[in-house]
Amino acid sequence: MSDQTTIEEKQKEESRAQITRRRFLTTLFAAASAIGLGAFLAPLVRFAYPVVTGPVFERLRLASVEDITPEGVRFEYQEVPGMLIQKQDGSFAAFSLVCTHLGCIVRWDAIDREFKCPCHAGFFDEDGEVISGPPPRPLNRFTIAVENGGIFVEGIES
Ligand code: FES
Repeated sequence: MSDQTTIEEKQKEESRAQITRRRFLTTLFAAASAIGLGAFLAPLVRFAYPVVTGPVFERLRLASVEDITPEGVRFEYQEVPGMLIQKQDGSFAAFSLVCTHLGCIVRWDAIDREFKCPCHAGFFDEDGEVISGPPPRPLNRFTIAVENGGIFVEGIES
C-alpha cells in the first residue's frame, strides 16, 4: 500500500510539475508574442499618427530698401545661404545660393545679372530660372516682405 501511495504521489507531483512547466511556457510564449506584436504595430501607429512638427520660420531683417546695391545682399537664413537682389523691374527677390544640380554655392554676378555656378557652369537668371547648364530646376526662393522701408525674409519656398 505504501509503495502504491508513493507511486501515486510521485505521479501527482510530476503532473503538477508538468502543468507548471506548461504554464511557464505558455506565459513565455504569450509575452514573446505580445512583444513581437508591439514591435510590429508601433511603427504602424507611428505612421498613422505622426508627430507633426513643421518648420518654424522666423522673420529676419535683411536690409533697408535704400541700402540695396546691384551686388545685392548676401545673408544666411535657417543655415541656407541666400542672396537678396533688386531685379531690373525694381522688385526684390531672394534666392538660395545652393545650386539645384549638386549643391555647389552659386555666385551672383551683378554685371551679367545672373547667378553662376562654378562647379558645372550652371547659370540662372534674376528670377532664379535655369538659363543653361545641368541644373534640373530653378533656384529655391525665399519668401520676403517689404515693410516700412525694410526688407525681411520670412521663410523658404519649396
Ligand atoms: S553643382 Fe551647380 S551646375 Fe553642378
